[in-house]
Amino acid sequence: MIVLGIETSCDDTAAAVLDGSGVRSDVVWSQDLHARYGGVVPELASRAHASQIVPVVRAALAQAGVERPDAIAVTAGPGLMGAVLVGLSYAKAASLGWGVPFIGVNHLEGHLLSGLMEPGASGVQAPGFPFLSLVISGGHTTLYAVHGLGEYTVVSETVDDAIGEAYDKVARMLGLGYPGGPLVDGLAAQGDPRVIPFPRPRLARVVAGERQTVDDMSFSGLKTAVRTAIERNPLLAPADVCASFQQAVVDVVCDRVRRAATELDMAVVLVGGGAAANSGIRAGLSAMGLRAVLPARSRCTDNAAMIAHVGRLYLSAGVAPDGLDRTARSPWAPGGAPVRQSR
Ligand code: KG4
Ligand code: ZN
Repeated sequence: MIVLGIETSCDDTAAAVLDGSGVRSDVVWSQDLHARYGGVVPELASRAHASQIVPVVRAALAQAGVERPDAIAVTAGPGLMGAVLVGLSYAKAASLGWGVPFIGVNHLEGHLLSGLMEPGASGVQAPGFPFLSLVISGGHTTLYAVHGLGEYTVVSETVDDAIGEAYDKVARMLGLGYPGGPLVDGLAAQGDPRVIPFPRPRLARVVAGERQTVDDMSFSGLKTAVRTAIERNPLLAPADVCASFQQAVVDVVCDRVRRAATELDMAVVLVGGGAAANSGIRAGLSAMGLRAVLPARSRCTDNAAMIAHVGRLYLSAGVAPDGLDRTARSPWAPGGAPVRQSR
C-alpha cells in the first residue's frame, strides 16, 4: 500500500510517500518566517501552509515516482487548529479527487512510533511491543508505555514546560535565536557542564498526610534557575550555561526512563519529537544499558513520513478510513483518552 502522508500541525509544511519497503520521499518546507518573531505566529503559519501545501505534495509525489497514492494519512491534531485544517482540508479534497481513502493521524502518535521506521528496528509493519516511548518536542514531554498500536499509557510527563520549549526560552535569554534547541545544543558541546549545578527536581505530592515523590517532570524551575544564574553573573560563558542546562535536562530525562524501565521491566525505549535530535539526550539514553531507538535527526523534528507510517499501520490493521466529516482535534491524547500507568 502506497501512502501519502501530510503534516501541517505547526510550522513545517511536509509531505512524504511511504510503501511497504520504506520511505520513498520525505519533503519538509520549514517556515523560517517565524524566526524574527521568536516563536510561531499561528495565522502566518496557516497562510504559509496554504501557499506551500500544493508544491510540497507535488514534490513528494514526483520524488517517489507516484502519480496517485493508494491512501492518504494526514495530521488531524493536536497542533495549531488553523494550520492543521489546511492539511486536513487538502487531504479531504485530494481523497475525493483521486477516489482514495484518507485517515486522520494523531501528530504525537507519529513521534511516538517514529522509531519503528528506523533501519534495524522492527520494521514498518511489525512493531515489537511492548516498549517505552519518549516524546519530547516543543509542546510535549511525555514518557509512554506502548502496549500495542493505539494502546498507550502515560508513565511520566512534564507538569509545566516542554523540553523543546525550555530550550527555546533559554536560547532567547542568551540572545541565540529561534528555534533555540539546535543552537543551545551546539553551544553546549563547547562548554563545561560542571560549571553551574542546576536543579534536577523530583516532584512530590502528599497522599494521606504522607509525602510521596512522583515521576513527573518539571522544567520551568530549571529555566528560572538559568535566568537567575545569568542575571547574577553576566560574565558566565554562554557555552557553560548551555552545557550545564543541557546536563540537567539529560539527567532528569535519563532518570525517569531508567525508573520506568526498571518498574515496568522494559528493555527498549524509542525517542521522538524535535528535542530527540538533542546530542546530549541521544548520548545519555544510548549509554543507559537499554536499547535506545533514535530516529535520524530529520525524523525527530516534524515530518510527514511519521504520519504516513502511523496511517499505514492503522489501515493495514483494518481500521476504517475517515469520512469527509472528520474534524481536527486539539488537544488530543494519542490512542484516545489519556490513561495514567498505575503502579
Ligand atoms: O517536534 P517538533 O519539530 O515540533 C513540535 O511538535 O513541537 O519540535 C520542535 C522543538 C523546538 O522547541 C526545538 O527547539 C526543539 O524541538 N529542538 C531541539 C533540538 N532540535 C529541535 N531541542 C533540543 N535540542 C535539539 N537539538
Ligand atoms: Zn512535533
